[in-house]
Amino acid sequence: MHDVIDSTNTRIAALSKENAEEGTIVFARQQTAGRGRLGRQWVSPPNSGLYMSVLLRPEQSVGELPVITLGIGVAAAKAIFATTGLRIGLKWVNDLIYDGKKLGGILCEVPSGNSKLPALVIGIGINTTFDSDSIPDELKEKLYWLEAASGTEVDTTALATELCFQIESVYESMKKGEIAKVLDEWRLYSITLGQEVVCTTPSREVRGIALDVTNTGALIVQTSAGREELLGGEISVRTAHGSYT
Ligand code: BTN
Repeated sequence: MHDVIDSTNTRIAALSKENAEEGTIVFARQQTAGRGRLGRQWVSPPNSGLYMSVLLRPEQSVGELPVITLGIGVAAAKAIFATTGLRIGLKWVNDLIYDGKKLGGILCEVPSGNSKLPALVIGIGINTTFDSDSIPDELKEKLYWLEAASGTEVDTTALATELCFQIESVYESMKKGEIAKVLDEWRLYSITLGQEVVCTTPSREVRGIALDVTNTGALIVQTSAGREELLGGEISVRTAHGSYT
């Protein structure tokens, strides 16, 4: 456990090159350079969230990034439910959502460099406590944190312990080839499937209805031109009011 670190993902990536074992975990109370997906910053003030990264060394069968991200999302949803009683939703591919706002996210990265072993860094950030006065108004519309959502104090250590247990359980399940079972669990938490979505990738925009996910975790979208399988990018889901969130 680090009081302050630049990014737990960066630390695990460095450890992976020193041949750290699968299952190595780094926690921090604060990150000064927390990273989100698509090059974004992950705001990580002191004692305001769970910031952790785990090193996995998956064999080929579980080496597909999106499906692992979905499995870790299921683990996070179960851990949050077990420790706070809150039932969150999962927005493809990696957002932890409550009441339309982002409560946490998952960043899977393959470290560059010359480690001899396969390596996958799984970073998880879950907002637990925020001083709402310290959050800019435009972010208040988009962010949530566990204490506000559950109305109770959150024991971050208990959440971290449960999350480690759930990650191990889902990962073991995937290693045994139970991908379909994990995807079925993901479908139960999904707030994306059946919705009108817009998916923005660096090169294009895809609009349509999110139908399902493939066995590798890609999102199947029915567009006016046919079906597309999306592997990454950012999606917005149409709300009941017609706006996209
Ligand atoms: C996202 O964009 O939704 C993913 C956010 C992931 C944030 C976590 S916090 C712990 C780990 N270390 C980082 O620098 N990022 C991840």
